[in-house]
Formats: sequence, C-alpha cells, structure tokens
Amino acid sequence: MPTANRRRYEILYPIGKGAFGTVYRGRVLGDGGFTKDVAIKLLRSDLEDAEDFAARQRDEARLLGLIHHRAIVQVDGLVRLDGRWAVVMEYIDGVDLRQIRKRADIPVACAVAVVREVAGALKVASSARKLVHRDIKPSNITITRAGEVKLLDFGSAKARFDQREARTVNLVLGTPHYMAPERYKGVDGPAGDVFALGAVLGELVNGDRLPRPPMKSSSFPKYLDGVRDQLVAKGVHAEVARLVTDCLVADPEARPSAGEIATRAWELERELSGPRLETWAHGVVDRVQEELGHERAALPEPMVLEESDDTPAPELVPPPPPAAAPRRLGTSTAATLGAAGMLGLLLMLAGGALVLVVLFVALLGGG
Ligand SMILES: Nc1ncnc2c1ncn2[C@@H]1O[C@H](COP(=O)(O)OP(=O)(O)OP(=O)(O)O)[C@@H](O)[C@H]1O
Ligand SMILES: [Mg+2]
Repeated sequence: MPTANRRRYEILYPIGKGAFGTVYRGRVLGDGGFTKDVAIKLLRSDLEDAEDFAARQRDEARLLGLIHHRAIVQVDGLVRLDGRWAVVMEYIDGVDLRQIRKRADIPVACAVAVVREVAGALKVASSARKLVHRDIKPSNITITRAGEVKLLDFGSAKARFDQREARTVNLVLGTPHYMAPERYKGVDGPAGDVFALGAVLGELVNGDRLPRPPMKSSSFPKYLDGVRDQLVAKGVHAEVARLVTDCLVADPEARPSAGEIATRAWELERELSGPRLETWAHGVVDRVQEELGHERAALPEPMVLEESDDTPAPELVPPPPPAAAPRRLGTSTAATLGAAGMLGLLLMLAGGALVLVVLFVALLGGG
C-alpha cells in the first residue's frame, strides 16, 4: 500500500548485467512530484547469503556516503524493492572503459588522464576511510561525454570478495587479469588497487588485455619482461610503460602509492601529445552509446516498484579497521565459528553447574 514517506522507483531500461545483478536506469519518485535520475542495481534473487551480501553493501554504501570525490560515484543506499535488494546510485550518463576499449583506440594521453583521476579517488578513499576498492577493472570505470571519470562498485567489490572468501579459496579469483599476487594469500590493501590500476593502464595503451599476471611472485620477472616488450612493440611512450610495470611488481611495498601515481600521471599528461580527455570523450562516448543503443532497449512500459516495509532504517557504522593486516583466507568465518564455539562451551558449563546445584539442593531437601 503506498505511504507518504515510502519512495517509489521507476525502472526504465537495463544498462548492463554483471555477475551479481542487473543495472537499470531508473528514477526515484518522491513526495510532491520530486524525481531524481538514478541507476538501480537489482541484486539477483538467487544469491547465496543474500542477506549477508546486502548488509556489507549497506555498510560500504554508508561509508562511501561520507567520502566526496568527483571520480567516486555516489551511492544513495540499499533498498528492498519487490522483495529483492537494490543498490541505488547516482546515474552516470556515459560508457565504461571495457565498452570503449572494444570499440575504439584510446589515445595514450587520455588513458593517463583517466588513471590520474582514478588514482586521486583511491587516495582519498583509502586515506579518509581506509576503503579499498578491490575490483578495479575497465567495466568499473565510466567516462561521461564531458570527460568526467567515475569509479563504480566500491561496495560490491568488498561484499563480493568476502562472500567468495567465506566459501572457497578458488572463488576468491574475482577478475584474475587485474589481481595482485598477494590477494591470493588473502592480503588485501591499497597496493592491490594500485596493481589493478596498472593493469588497466597497460590494457588501455596496449589496446587489448595484458597477459594474465602470475599467482607466484617468482614468475614475475618473466611476466614483467613480457609486458614491457609488448608495450614497446606497440610504441607506447617509455615513461607510460614504466608507470605500468612499476604498478605490476610482485612486492606490494615496492609499488607506487595511489598519490604517487596521480602525480606521475599529471606530469606525463603535460608531456604527451594528443587530444585532451574532455575533447576526445565527447565524440567517443556518443558513438559507443549509439552502438550500445540496441542493447539498452527500453521496457515497453516503465516498471514502478515501491520500497518494502523491511528496508532497514539507515544507521551510521564506524569506519572499518585498517585493511593492511594480512589475513588468512576464511579467517572471518573461522573467527565467527570459534567465537560461537566458545560461547556454546561456556553455556554448557554454566548449564552443567546449574544442574549440579539443583541436584544438590534436591538431595539436601530430600535428606
Ligand atoms: N551508476 C551507474 N550509472 C551508469 N552505468 C552504470 C552504473 N553502475 C553500473 N553501470 C554499468 O552497468 C553495467 C553492469 O555493471 P555491473 O557492475 O553489474 O557489472 P560489471 O562491472 O560489468 O561486471 P561484474 O559483475 O563482474 O562486476 C556496466 O556496464 C556498468 O558500467
Ligand atoms: Mg561493475
């Protein structure tokens, strides 16, 4: 039943589909004719541990709400629509880097400018709130017609990682082409995002995905030689190639920080010739959007969904502890089970003691 303070969401058409749900272009319909353009990621209803997944997304969405950076997509929150969880976000009228890379060559100066923006966003997120993205990849970076860069999916990356981690080690492999070797051992800090960003830059200037990084550190010298050769063969500017390979080293401590990448990218942009991101984006975003048009068929009629009663009230969560401490895979589950086990044992002991006291009293009473 419609109520005054419950919002309604109009679902217009699908923008794209990912592993955890479908993203729709939508509109929030509020009181007094208020409307707002949004993107709505409707999470798949068959997700295992959906509640857990949703709770993590909610926490991350709240933390993200406290960070303001022009390259970080604002997340409005998590709501329950038609019995399913939905992430409501700022709608970005643009196309993602995977879609662009498949259809156009990206000028090196533009690729470097994109990386500068993403690095700036990562720096702010990790220094202000200790947030690590964990799933930096081309489909999570969007460019608008005006040349703005927007980083998507901060929350779901963490949720996805934890969810997979809790199940099986193999499933930790989120997007292997962008995965730092330490992540396979459960080490999960800002340097992992730097590694992925290096892989993205390499892919953009190479025009194709780089070879998949090895899992073992000992295989890195050979891997890095291969990447360097490939970029040199493509005629990539030597300093740009060096920025890529510096990010892709096996030792997380030896990688540049996000802040250093932003500075280096800024300096490189001034040296590189070619169009500026703002100028180039204008034409390419229009073209790619047009090509994608057929995939974004409008629904015959917009679907209107209403927030359900069980949407939890917003509440603030404290910032998470620093993410740098190495953690074995599955520790969180083990810790939870361990704590539950201890509690169970204590309860059993307490129960046993109570039974003995009752027996003792009964015996005394009887005697
Ligand atoms: N806020 C948004 N505004 C506009 N487009 C968006 C928004 N969020 C996501 N998209 C687009 O929707 C599509 C699907 O995104 P989604 O995150 O579900 O999957 P993905 O990133 O492609 O893959 P994966 O599930 O492996 O992360 C992508 O093309 C993405 O760029
Ligand atoms: Mg995504």
